[in-house]
Amino acid sequence: MKFADPIYITRPFMAPLETFSETLVSVWDSQWFTNNGPRVRELEKKLATKLNTNPPLLVTNGTVALHLAIRTLELQQGTILTTPFTWIATSSSILWEGYTAKLVDIDPNTFNIDVSKIEDSITEDTVAIMAVHVFSNPCDVIALERISKQYNLPIIYDAAHAFGVRVAGKSIFSWGDISTASFHATKVFNTAEGGGVFCSTPERYEVAYSIRDFGFDRERNIERLGTNAKMSEIHAALGLANLPLIEGAVEKRRTLTETYRTILGERVGFQQYDPDAYNYAYMPVIFKTESELLRVVEHLNAHNVFPRRYFHPSLSEMTVLLPDQPCPVAEDLASRILCLPLYPTLEIEAVEQIAKLILQALA
Ligand SMILES: Cc1ncc(COP(=O)(O)O)c(C=O)c1O
Repeated sequence: MKFADPIYITRPFMAPLETFSETLVSVWDSQWFTNNGPRVRELEKKLATKLNTNPPLLVTNGTVALHLAIRTLELQQGTILTTPFTWIATSSSILWEGYTAKLVDIDPNTFNIDVSKIEDSITEDTVAIMAVHVFSNPCDVIALERISKQYNLPIIYDAAHAFGVRVAGKSIFSWGDISTASFHATKVFNTAEGGGVFCSTPERYEVAYSIRDFGFDRERNIERLGTNAKMSEIHAALGLANLPLIEGAVEKRRTLTETYRTILGERVGFQQYDPDAYNYAYMPVIFKTESELLRVVEHLNAHNVFPRRYFHPSLSEMTVLLPDQPCPVAEDLASRILCLPLYPTLEIEAVEQIAKLILQALA
């Protein structure tokens, strides 16, 4: 059976239009579109309350959040250790800020940076570690904290995927020296485009606050090199409309994930995660070979279903940006992993059908 309408990898989570319109009325009434307006401040406050974190700084997107995070740490020039299995923004932000990105291979089960390989990669030149909670699966934050203390290296967490996840009773955004979120349309919680920076100390918050706004301090003096990273009121209004509905959306994602997993069973591999520290942002499945994956993609496409290869290729193979740094585990995974359609308005029957199409292609 071919789906009448295309089923894409994702669709944005959207609060009812009437709810968004009501929130927009307050923006119109205020005649205030940007520059740390009331809706941005309200969303920052609501996020801190909901997640039980320090107040985040809302910014234009998750990539800019990474730029701010790196700058806020005021590091010396040098190398930042990071992962090859992520979106290009993780490494590109390091390069854009003038640092060298050194890739440390990943754990084949969790898909996160392999903590056991980090210490061997630390040299005199290393100034920080940037790790990613891949597909919302938390890194080994306890081990990373130990390494951070032992080697005096700050940790930046790219938590773009991990909205709402908690580890050891703490929000994922409260781990590390600084942590970033993406509120892009594809994310569990979205503001269409947007991001957040979560600082571990008030001092860092002040630095990030000033960088977000051209380098101005609270007295409106330029105190450092800044940029324009401010979130607009319209984006914040969308966030305010979406925020109260996120738990229900995550619950639906979890149900759909379990449906895929039940039907696909042992025929494919899955990421290893703790169901209570995961937000079901993505539905990654691993095939035995790349040719199996390509066969599945072709079969799904023929039935109007459009999954996506995340993250392919591994950043270690993007030699146009990074020097050759072989990461065999990430490269192997990247060649065999596919993310299936997953979003809250996707019907459970559609998921059952997609899973059956995959089994057909593999038969
Ligand atoms: C791991 C990771 N980091 C950073 C980003 C960048 O976020 P944004 O698209 O909001 O700039 C993404 C985007 O998808 C991502 O997946």
